[in-house]
Amino acid sequence: MAVRAGFLLAAAAWVWLSAVAASAFDDVPTAAFDERFSPLFGDGNLVRSSDDRSVRLLLDRRSGSGFMSSDYYLHGFFSASIKLPKDYTAGVVVAFYLSNGDVYEKTHDELDFEFLGSRWGGQWRVQTNVYGNGSTSHGREERYLLPFDPTLEAHRYSVLWAPTHIIFYIDDTPIREVIRHPDMGGDFPAKPMALYATIWDGSAWATEGGKYKVNYKYAPFASEFSDLAVVGPRADPVLRAPRGAGDDQDLLGLMTADYAVMTPQKRAAMRAFRARHMTYTVCYDAVRYASGPFPECDNSDEERENFSAWGESKTVVMRPRARGRRRGRKAGAGAGARGRADVASS
Ligand SMILES: *[C@@H]1O[C@H](CO)[C@@H](O)[C@H](O)[C@H]1NC(C)=O
Ligand SMILES: *[C@@H]1O[C@H](CO)[C@@H](O)[C@H](O)[C@H]1NC(C)=O
Repeated sequence: MAVRAGFLLAAAAWVWLSAVAASAFDDVPTAAFDERFSPLFGDGNLVRSSDDRSVRLLLDRRSGSGFMSSDYYLHGFFSASIKLPKDYTAGVVVAFYLSNGDVYEKTHDELDFEFLGSRWGGQWRVQTNVYGNGSTSHGREERYLLPFDPTLEAHRYSVLWAPTHIIFYIDDTPIREVIRHPDMGGDFPAKPMALYATIWDGSAWATEGGKYKVNYKYAPFASEFSDLAVVGPRADPVLRAPRGAGDDQDLLGLMTADYAVMTPQKRAAMRAFRARHMTYTVCYDAVRYASGPFPECDNSDEERENFSAWGESKTVVMRPRARGRRRGRKAGAGAGARGRADVASS
């Protein structure tokens, strides 16, 4: 029995490592902060490294902080290695996202990675979302647990936004694909967006529906961003047209890059990730969307059995993890006593 469990763990680790070995992102040019970004808010809470290739965003009692790309892009590949704040982080939100909300107040587009802190060090949850043309009344959330402790080292989070599809990646594994369906209409983001990274106090909702607030005894909460990449045609957000020459990559280059192409292997890795780590998907939320799933949802009866009518996974449930890494039962025992409850993921 013990031997078999050990084998399964090794097999799971192999799947993750093998995805990393065949990196699709090695050729992606990374930018210095000054080349592509500008501070957004938080003044002294945004700390740039001396070589200007990484940035720390801090949250303390005084302020959160954030930065944004200096340009808007009409499609592209957007990526950063992010190390999340450690220890007690309930109520803390780190966001890495594309938006044009500053330009289009009522009809904005948005693609999100949101990281939600927790009471248990290292147990961050991740949420992705897609909005188009102001579709804020029908959000397309998904939530996931991570197969690693995101506070120990940086991991790469990326969004590919093409006219035909969107892919969210964690490291080299695609975790969500949104293929543009004609019936999505304006819900598919289609106007130039800028890239944002922020840390802020989300006490009102981030952790278990707002039950656990930010505790500034643990401040400052520090997130580190490096390997900053924004690759794609720069565009005028108002004219909605590419600016033209001088970009790293035009639309054809973008569409044919490895990270824009979903191979059978990548799709299999995505399915495996979702089966093991996704705690909620809007595609199976028949309570919120009684008139049926969104047109782009790729639902199956088999998979539906693993989700409740509220879109919550019946098989993937958050459990408090041993300090640092998950190291099997023995190491986990102490943490189990410290953090008893299985945390419902909502
Ligand atoms: C976006 O929303 C605006 C305002 O509701 C509407 O006039 C327009 O037709 C929409 N565009 C698309 C592509 O759906
Ligand atoms: C449903 O969950 C079980 C148990 O975790 C898993 O083995 C199976 O692959 C899942 N089915 C699908 C279609 O994801």
